[in-house]
Amino acid sequence: MYSDNNHSNDNSANELVKSSQTPTAQSALKHLARRSFLRKIGIGAALLAPGAALLTGSAKAFAASGKQKLTRGDVAILQLLAAAELIEADLWQQYTELGGVDAPMTGYTAALQILDGDQPQYISDNTDDEISHATFLNAYLHSKGEKGVNLDAFRTLPSSQATGAQQIGRLTNLTQLTVDTSWWTRYRSTTNPDFGATFPDAVPSLNTGQHTAIPRNNAELDDPNNPSDHVKAIAFTAGFHFGFIEQGGTSLYATLAQKVTSLEVLRVLISIGGSEIMHFQTWQDKAGNATPLTDFDPVNNSSVTFEDLTTGQPETLQSNLIMPEPCEFISPSLPACAIIRPSGPGQLDATGAINSFIADGLFIGQSAQFLQLIKALARAADAAQRQVD
Ligand SMILES: [Fe+2]
Ligand SMILES: [Fe+2]
Repeated sequence: MYSDNNHSNDNSANELVKSSQTPTAQSALKHLARRSFLRKIGIGAALLAPGAALLTGSAKAFAASGKQKLTRGDVAILQLLAAAELIEADLWQQYTELGGVDAPMTGYTAALQILDGDQPQYISDNTDDEISHATFLNAYLHSKGEKGVNLDAFRTLPSSQATGAQQIGRLTNLTQLTVDTSWWTRYRSTTNPDFGATFPDAVPSLNTGQHTAIPRNNAELDDPNNPSDHVKAIAFTAGFHFGFIEQGGTSLYATLAQKVTSLEVLRVLISIGGSEIMHFQTWQDKAGNATPLTDFDPVNNSSVTFEDLTTGQPETLQSNLIMPEPCEFISPSLPACAIIRPSGPGQLDATGAINSFIADGLFIGQSAQFLQLIKALARAADAAQRQVD
């Protein structure tokens, strides 16, 4: 899964699996597994798992350049973020194919545009951003003589059968989601999860059972002029899922930025993290435009109910309250402050963010090796310690 090359989203899993069988890759795997730090956090075993693809790094070329080396912690943080961005890019690519600017005009795209007329543009742009994040982070790691991350060997999950979806292997599953919508009430509250606060769901039925956020077949694409409640429910599920994903990225970058050592790596994290915040803010301005409906999905055997959040709601649900409400920060004795939250340890740090993706159902159908790998990357990132003279 480490690579010195930037691979496209095309499925080259077979080639990579083959490449991991070569003597060079095998020796690199063994070399990596011997490193005590990697063994301690369990990453060596994950990388040695069948199907994990790893290519050798460029440490020698780097050493000759004389540039300052990144700390082990900075590398682990950047690698975890590269993996998270590849995961984001994979799911956003699926949304773009069926809901972006080049997607066929369908009931799904019409229902997405109930949330906002520019929704297809935003979906396509968010996708481009995630691809750029993953590509940049891997290229940056390579430029420092470190190994980038390649998850192509795990692009094994099926695509939607609906017209518009490429028939390629995917990293993520958008058809069996359990969407935590408590981020909506969290940002409208005056309390902070870093102080133990918890929050109710904005759409409780999305956080129970499983729900699809993309049409699974042409029947679910429906009529662009008159989308059914079923197709609207799929699009509105996507609307809340967009916010869920991007609030996770928002807190992940804010949390990990506090552990980096290099000022340049800090610049990378706060700059890409700022882009995640912009994504989140866009989606939290749109999700609440869902129109009231109840739908039953016979495939997942689950129901969902969307209420009108635009009028007659308490402040913790009101859709136009999209700016972060000031809340407690650092110390309860300090004044309330409008901030990104959580940003403390044990919340949406690397392990927390990956666990939230797992709980979301994003990886239903993925191999145990994949889960082992991303959890190990997350542990390594969380183990990073800021080293300042
Ligand atoms: Fe991103
Ligand atoms: Fe993102």
